[in-house]
Amino acid sequence: MLKRKIAATAVALLCLSPLVSHAFTVGLAFPTQEDPRWYKEGFMVDKGLKDAGFKTDLYFAGETDPVLQQRQVKRLLDDNVDLLVVAAVDGSALTDALKPAIEKKIPVIAYDRLITGTEAPSYYISVDNEMIGELQGEYLAKALALGSSGQNKTIELFQGSLDDNNAKIFFKGAMKKLRLYIDRGDLVIKSGEQKADEISIPGWDNETALKRMDSLIAKQGYNPSTQKLDAVLSPNDGIAGSIIYALEKVGFTKGNMPVITGCDATQTGIENIKKGLQGMSIYKSGELVKGVVEMAQAISKGEEPDYNDDFSYDNGVKVMKSLLCDPEVIDSTNYQIAQ
Ligand code: BGC
Repeated sequence: MLKRKIAATAVALLCLSPLVSHAFTVGLAFPTQEDPRWYKEGFMVDKGLKDAGFKTDLYFAGETDPVLQQRQVKRLLDDNVDLLVVAAVDGSALTDALKPAIEKKIPVIAYDRLITGTEAPSYYISVDNEMIGELQGEYLAKALALGSSGQNKTIELFQGSLDDNNAKIFFKGAMKKLRLYIDRGDLVIKSGEQKADEISIPGWDNETALKRMDSLIAKQGYNPSTQKLDAVLSPNDGIAGSIIYALEKVGFTKGNMPVITGCDATQTGIENIKKGLQGMSIYKSGELVKGVVEMAQAISKGEEPDYNDDFSYDNGVKVMKSLLCDPEVIDSTNYQIAQ
């Protein structure tokens, strides 16, 4: 694609033609406009690329609709974008849609979520997802003072959507930090629910998370006076919001709210942190946006973009050249950096 464009430019110059070669266009396929994180970040990436001189074409896949995203990806590739950036709805469902990228040699960057089962993605940009889980687990361990033994704290666990590779890795990271305390009985999962099919929230859907928290409250009888709950591991701010809402309905307030984790530093997440209802979140958008713009700049010049990991993310067909940014913990002391 790039070569074709350079050749076209050369011909235009030789002929002293007034034709100008078209701007380098980046197609953006984002998973949904319904989730504040993705809506905001879609426009952040779009703006970052435009400010760097690129032309862009931005799509959101409705309410996380994998079929709609496949159509959007095909459309962008039919339009011969020079680079495609995809934040997948379902990372394993894009193999067919991405075939034209392989045929036409259009580079593809998998954004934040891994795209699996195809050789199409050239690069992966994300954060260290295991570290996100570790930071959530560490935060809970510290807030509950689990380091000193003999604690008898209660927790409930939530995991993200199982069709999203990140969800499994977040959980693995968190368990690295919490398993020891669960095994020695300092931390008790009162419902006993810890298997993926019991605790995962398909599509990261906030309504489903609310239903699960309502049902945990009903079954375990959680209430602020006689049946306390000390912590909830939540993988992101959206799910944390649902958990908080369910707990508030049965009388929990900032003074007795369990310690709840999050991720994404969304506006609602930050508001909940400010109100003392959510303990922490993770900020990653700024680094991801900066990183993807730098990758696009290198690719547009025909150069290999910087990456810092070529061993952690195997997409089933190849091990990805990945740029993994650092996640940053946000709490009541520093939420300003994410605003
Ligand atoms: C991301 C999270 C996000 C979740 C739901 C995951 O792939 O890593 O940051 O909260 O999707 O959108």
